Amino acid sequence: MISWQPQPTADGSFTFYSEVFGETFHSLQGAKAEAFVKFAQATELAQQAERGQIRLLDVCYGLGYNTAAAIETIWRSVPDCAIEVYGLELDASVPIAATHPPVIDAWIPAVQAMLRQLALHHHYQTSQLTATLLIGDARQTIQQLAPHVQADAILFDPFSPRRCPQLWTVEFFQQVAVRLAPTGKLATYSRSASVRSALMSTGLQIGTIPLDGRASPHEWSQGTTASFDASTLIPLSAMEQEHLQTRAAIPYRDPTLTDSAEQILARHQIEQQQSDRESTSSWRRRWGIH
Ligand SMILES: C[S@@+](CC[C@H](N)C(=O)[O-])C[C@H]1O[C@@H](n2cnc3c(N)ncnc32)[C@H](O)[C@@H]1O
Repeated sequence: MISWQPQPTADGSFTFYSEVFGETFHSLQGAKAEAFVKFAQATELAQQAERGQIRLLDVCYGLGYNTAAAIETIWRSVPDCAIEVYGLELDASVPIAATHPPVIDAWIPAVQAMLRQLALHHHYQTSQLTATLLIGDARQTIQQLAPHVQADAILFDPFSPRRCPQLWTVEFFQQVAVRLAPTGKLATYSRSASVRSALMSTGLQIGTIPLDGRASPHEWSQGTTASFDASTLIPLSAMEQEHLQTRAAIPYRDPTLTDSAEQILARHQIEQQQSDRESTSSWRRRWGIH
């Protein structure tokens, strides 16, 4: 059994490191800050809460930070808003490990109670908050959600496309898109062109999450939002739009939703090699991205 060691991040909150995927679960610039900025704010939960009820779908629940930040954001805005959460997670040991100090200390007591109960029993219910955690490969567990379960916000947070391509494919996004309400919003930290084109292939419109002041020269965005209603999205810059014309925008595919990461990466590499689109390095040179 893996033991998860809390790793400090720059805002004082903690994350874990996955040996299997070779990545941390959050940005080292701040795990808690990432959950608020790239997920809760990007899906406009404070405004959405004014409707009085919100449904969240947390794809790759992990330590539960995105759900926790979403609940805190909603209740700060509308304290009696009713919330329904569905979380998808492969590894049940991760949410359990996140119920211990110092990791759990990041959250208000009501959210801590939910995180503990959900990690141990995969279900939590109070008069204001219902949460369900589905353990298994999200490619399959998402299909257990009833068709009427459409989320106002989808918090989309797998490991990176190179490490976990199976959750960034056209076919998985098709499953995800049917669970997004007509006025709902999806947010992800990925600004990758392959991810953006896969989202667009499902009929979703996409927007950007603009950089904040701390951006370094190789960055152009903090992530991506998607919705069926483009009016709530921040449009892509010209640079980001041109990125979608390059080879980097060839999406990952997983026709049966059962392929291994290696199979998906190999299929993607062949498609890129056969493409006559502009190379991504020439796009980078043109826009001075190092
Ligand atoms: C970047 S971390 C998510 C962090 C999380 N959102 C949080 O706030 O703590 C990615 C998560 O995806 C999970 N994961 C990996 N492959 C998966 C799969 N096929 N289905 C569902 N979850 C998966 C990992 O166990 C890990 O918890």
